Amino acid sequence: MTDFQKITWQSPSNIALIKYWGKHGHQLPCNPSLSMTLDKARTTTSMYYRADSHGLKVKYLFEGKKQEEFEMKILKLMISLQDEMPFLNQYEFRFESSNNFPHSAGIASSASSMSALALCLVSLEEILLKENYSREDFLKRASHIARLGSGSASRSIFGNYALWGHTDDLEQSSDEYAIPFTLPVHEKFAAMGDAVLLVSSQQKSVSSSLGHHLMTVHPFAEARYKQAETNLQALMVCLQVGDFESFACIVENEALTLHSLLMTSSDDGLLLKANTLHIIDEIRRFRSETGLQMCFTLDAGPNVHLLYPLGEREKVMDFITFRLLRFCENEQWIDDQIGTGPVCTECHSMERSS
Ligand code: PMV
Repeated sequence: MTDFQKITWQSPSNIALIKYWGKHGHQLPCNPSLSMTLDKARTTTSMYYRADSHGLKVKYLFEGKKQEEFEMKILKLMISLQDEMPFLNQYEFRFESSNNFPHSAGIASSASSMSALALCLVSLEEILLKENYSREDFLKRASHIARLGSGSASRSIFGNYALWGHTDDLEQSSDEYAIPFTLPVHEKFAAMGDAVLLVSSQQKSVSSSLGHHLMTVHPFAEARYKQAETNLQALMVCLQVGDFESFACIVENEALTLHSLLMTSSDDGLLLKANTLHIIDEIRRFRSETGLQMCFTLDAGPNVHLLYPLGEREKVMDFITFRLLRFCENEQWIDDQIGTGPVCTECHSMERSS
């Protein structure tokens, strides 16, 4: 038997400002979404691979331990990819993954883990095809593969701001893969902080795949998809002109819309905790008292992302310490910010970073 070869990618999580909630067909979004890529919350995945004539084999270890559920998910994904990546069938794979944010934090890690995996697979594809993709084609392909694993992962392939889903306002946009947000971003939004306030580490009770599925029968679905388009158009203008007030309005509206849809989709969809609401209340009160530029957003869970221009950092740190930490589980929070995207730390073909 030949030795295992290794490819390692480190890929970040992202936080959606315009939310993807609802899909159709083969993992296609019902509306375009736009996100900010994070810097510190990352998954590192090493993919060990060797030729095996007995067909596709997959093992997945997370922080040194076998992860049955995720292993099944990856195996299913790789089986479904065999048509477009026929080489998968001739290899044995072992993935070793770890997160550099606490696993117990209750932060959705599918975006970082699926994007890291997709980048490893496309790196291998490039080696086997003996042809270097252009940087743009490589990232497009990785985003497409990541999307098939988890929609939001398609956006983690790019740094700064990324957009997934077709919108008439950006010609290159596509439902098949995400693209970097290429319009000029105002300096206020070029350096953004994201303080992730950890309200509860409990596993969320509605999986995102069930949540997306429930949207197919939600009575407000069509109105929501239209609203997302309108919010996206307005947010793109805010990002370019530096209008933080309107940005805050849209981003908070998106977060609360996501939770309204969740709550009205299923009995398990009430994911907000009392402390989530206390934090939201404090943020809005402090903002109107001080005029400080900051706003909140939420993932499909109880933790709060506090977004602010890094220029306001000192005041925001004091605000977190004195007014918000008391609502966090064990006073935990993650001091993150906008990031530059994935990095290949062991790439056989060439060193890359996006
Ligand atoms: O990528 P999924 O299938 O885990 O869905 C993610 C959905 C949200 O995180 C709630 C919103 C988003 O756009 O990231």
